[in-house]
Amino acid sequence: RGARRGSECGALKIGGIRATELIEQFGSPLYVVDENATRETAREIRDALRGEAQRVGTDATVYYASKAFLSVETARWMDEEGLAIDVASGGELLVALAAGVDPRRIGFHGNNKSEAEIARAVEAGVGTIIIDSAIEVERIAAATAAAGTRQRVRLRVNSGVHASTHDYLATAHEDQKFGMPLSAAPALVREIVSHAGLDFVGLHCHIGSQIFATEGFRESARRLLGVYVELAEIAGRHIPELNLGGGFGIAYTPEQAAEAPNVSDIARQLADIVAEESKAAGIEIPHLAFEPGRAVVGQSGVTLYTVGTTKRVDLTGTGEADPVDRGYTERLYVSVDGGMSDNARPALYGSDYHVRIANRASDAEAALVRVVGKHCESGDIVVYRDELPADVAPGDTLAVAATGAYCWSLSSNYNFIPRPPVVAVRDGAARVIVRGQTEADLLAQSVVA
Ligand code: LLP
Repeated sequence: RGARRGSECGALKIGGIRATELIEQFGSPLYVVDENATRETAREIRDALRGEAQRVGTDATVYYASKAFLSVETARWMDEEGLAIDVASGGELLVALAAGVDPRRIGFHGNNKSEAEIARAVEAGVGTIIIDSAIEVERIAAATAAAGTRQRVRLRVNSGVHASTHDYLATAHEDQKFGMPLSAAPALVREIVSHAGLDFVGLHCHIGSQIFATEGFRESARRLLGVYVELAEIAGRHIPELNLGGGFGIAYTPEQAAEAPNVSDIARQLADIVAEESKAAGIEIPHLAFEPGRAVVGQSGVTLYTVGTTKRVDLTGTGEADPVDRGYTERLYVSVDGGMSDNARPALYGSDYHVRIANRASDAEAALVRVVGKHCESGDIVVYRDELPADVAPGDTLAVAATGAYCWSLSSNYNFIPRPPVVAVRDGAARVIVRGQTEADLLAQSVVA
């Protein structure tokens, strides 16, 4: 049996405000973002990656991968903290531009950008468009010709490295939709440089997300830089940049905290890798670019829920008791007022989260809990496995940690449950940065003849 985490069941404060106060003021469930923590993390990541790049004699641009969580306000924070913005659709581009981000500091991704999206990006003057397929070379060239501009472009390639949490498999991971095989790069670059409107700046690869080990980055950098000499011959000049994507993993639970990579370690290792591999390839170290999303915002978000119902399930004889259930013979199901509509990640990826009671202290013994939502399917799980004081009861406030990335952005209106607002807290003050949906919003899209 796990030890009771007594220290973790007092009244929780976020950004200097009690969780219960936030719920009273803004309702439940509620996404809460700690603005200072987000800004600090953004700065730390930027400084680490730039500082290490400078140490090895180059520099780096750190793009915030806005898909992790985007609003006008968060785009402004990132901009103010010196991060560029990576967008992956016309909609994300719209928000970044509305936030006043300098278009030259925007990178535009996507494996199926529409012609309208490309035209908009070119006309807006985005810094870089990442070419994902051969067809896009023509499309972007046509858009620059129509706009009478020149566009910086990168080419997204598959390094053949697939990196995921804890391990990487150096197998050809080319059987997926993003990017072009590395072997196709010379022919594509020849094609790109034949268009006067396209300025080829370098290769891009993104090997995966929630990565804990850095070997995948090393192998990827080695393979990409390995073709830079050939690409330079084709382009007739040095290839100035290399974008290694994002994917830095974070801890979602206290158990993961020991294994999660630390950003200054990653930054140092990546700078060393690129310096080493550039030397081996006999080229000048390119300017680096990175695109972290989760690592920037993941840990500074918390979701608050209110418990509605609980029930106990006897695990003996059900075959359901898992060895990882730490010897418990009973599971307490705790239903909250949200679920897979505000956090799809457990249902989509089997992701782990950590939960605590946020409104009070408790001396009760620990119980094995599964926090579930209110949607009509059994996969509607918020926290698959954790411990809470056994007296957790209707009306309690629960806080689920590390929901800052890919929760609001993956949210839905399944079962016509309105999306909760996002509140930013800072120095004891709270304000809504993304409005929650109302009943009127829920009805607004139905067309009545
Ligand atoms: N750059 C590119 C080209 C990407 O495709 C992604 C993520 C990133 C950067 C940022 O990756 P990050 O640093 O956040 O790991 N919905 C999933 C994650 C999908 C990531 C998609 N691409 C999740 O909730 O885990």
